[in-house]
Amino acid sequence: MNGWMGKIRAVLMLSILSLVLAACGKENLTALDPKGYGADTSMDMIILTTLIMVVVFLVVIIVYSIVLVRFRRKKGQENYIPKQVEGNHTLEMVWTAIPIVLVLIMGVPAVMTVFDLADESEASDSINIEVTGNQYWWHFNYAGEEVVTSQDLYIPTGEKVYLNMQSSDVIHSFWVPSISGKMDVNPENVNTMYIEAYEEGVYWGKCAELCGPSHSLMDFKVIAVSPEEFDQWIADMQSVDPADEPQDAVAQEGKELFEANNCMGCHAIGSSPSAVGPNLTNFGDRTKIAGFLEPTEENLVDWIMDPESIKPGNKMTGNYPDLSEDEASSIAAYLMQLKPSEVTPESVGGIN
Ligand code: CUA
Repeated sequence: MNGWMGKIRAVLMLSILSLVLAACGKENLTALDPKGYGADTSMDMIILTTLIMVVVFLVVIIVYSIVLVRFRRKKGQENYIPKQVEGNHTLEMVWTAIPIVLVLIMGVPAVMTVFDLADESEASDSINIEVTGNQYWWHFNYAGEEVVTSQDLYIPTGEKVYLNMQSSDVIHSFWVPSISGKMDVNPENVNTMYIEAYEEGVYWGKCAELCGPSHSLMDFKVIAVSPEEFDQWIADMQSVDPADEPQDAVAQEGKELFEANNCMGCHAIGSSPSAVGPNLTNFGDRTKIAGFLEPTEENLVDWIMDPESIKPGNKMTGNYPDLSEDEASSIAAYLMQLKPSEVTPESVGGIN
């Protein structure tokens, strides 16, 4: 009776664990379901090496088990000494050659993949984006387009997009698990990589290098849209005039407060690559606030009122006068209506 109870308990535990662990995954935040070139080639390498390791494991276990059972010391053979194989040339050749062949089977494609993913020969005819990592947000400057944005990186599907990456402070690491590998983003030098998404969608990006107290909140998104929608988005972003007056009276008041409190000293609306804070041109279309909060006006008010409690170590804290809740609400209303384009994360299905 007790044995049965134990087994049932073990099965229950396993089912609960697999349910709980399965829920940890997000569709567009996993390297195991590749939807872009870099992630795809990495996945091929993962499958190849795993297969070889499984075969080696099985062969070793099978040989070990056979030896254990077949060659046990038997009664009456206590003084029997089996045939000695030390110095056997054939055996030594075989067990030297097999590992070399296995390493070659894994090593040659791995080196080819590394060179393939570092290939820059098409960069001059493609979209180039300057990526800057900052504590704790990402800046994207589309070379030659006069388009600057933050946090949500728009790219066209089916094309290689070349990224030239540098940090303004400490070392970060750019990683979009379902479409690309990782690349360090250093203060001293420019690192380059390309990304390519096969399908439209919103892909989760992560900073993969411990960079300070809010490292784990340094999320961003890649918004992959069709090439036509991408051209549309670029045109919409280029047509933004920071001087445009909002229709709504509260938003209008927010714009005045935004200017009076010198928010433009750090941020920019429209293309200004010199801004030290995130560019806010399409803030109303952002997938998240501060990288990880749901994009509601309420969350934005909380963020403006006390950014330190939300994202410790951020550089906005203390750089503007204290605001009343009403003032913060007006500024939030102004920022949330900055929606220059019909091409948004929602138009490609939103976050999943
Ligand atoms: Cu930036 Cu971690």
